[in-house]
Amino acid sequence: MTFSLDHVIFFGRTWDECLGMYALEEQQLAGLKVLDCPGGPDALVAEGLAKGFDMHAADPQYAFDPDVLRERGHAEITDAMKKWQEDPEQAWDQKQADDFMRLKLEALESFVDMYRSKRDRYVAASLPDLPFEERSFDLVLSGHFLFIYASLERGGLMSNESMGLDFHVAAVRELVRVGKEVRIFPTFATTGPARRQEFVQPVIDAMVADGHEVELMPADWVEGDFTEFNDLLRIRRAN
Ligand SMILES: C[S@@+](CC[C@H](N)C(=O)[O-])C[C@H]1O[C@@H](n2cnc3c(N)ncnc32)[C@H](O)[C@@H]1O
Repeated sequence: MTFSLDHVIFFGRTWDECLGMYALEEQQLAGLKVLDCPGGPDALVAEGLAKGFDMHAADPQYAFDPDVLRERGHAEITDAMKKWQEDPEQAWDQKQADDFMRLKLEALESFVDMYRSKRDRYVAASLPDLPFEERSFDLVLSGHFLFIYASLERGGLMSNESMGLDFHVAAVRELVRVGKEVRIFPTFATTGPARRQEFVQPVIDAMVADGHEVELMPADWVEGDFTEFNDLLRIRRAN
């Protein structure tokens, strides 16, 4: 059976994975006000705050309590991996699958600890409408949400078209509205032949038409076999 999803999964990456996917060195975060959107249960904000950086996250799931999210995170990781491994076209070898699970659980534990102690850094909000003023953040990071949750037919993971091109353009515009620079990862198609996900170019065109500086920039981390199009989308606001 082909792997697909009917909702956006609540799981997240570790600190090192996040720095890699956004092609950032730790010291580049110094002095910046950073938004991770959607943050999910990734460790970026938790580890960043622990290191003294000015980190914030937004995600609709932050309306829920830490224990609920911990349980949800565990269930989502386990269920998604089981389904992934059942698809002969997607399945990884056992070591790769075990490593993936271990890193997701590591990130989840780091997230839950900080979410308990610094809840004010985690804002319940949904794209394409964020409750932040224009240019509130120096750097906005958005991972494993845009492009990847397009439908299967469009190289994403979703069994439905709930996040089409219009949603993508509106969501990216909103990220650019609240930030001065936005980095989005990944840009490759997650399913089907190796290629760029098909909304990437129209989103680039819309951002260029809005007057922003846009580039595809190599990312330093990739999971699975998507290396050929392993770039992040970087957008710098014109004004
Ligand atoms: C797979 S996680 C990504 C976490 C992290 N950025 C990473 O790369 O590991 C995707 C997240 O998107 C969130 N989400 C779902 N719909 C959303 C929306 N409309 N706006 C913002 N976030 C949304 C989910 O709650 C989930 O936590």
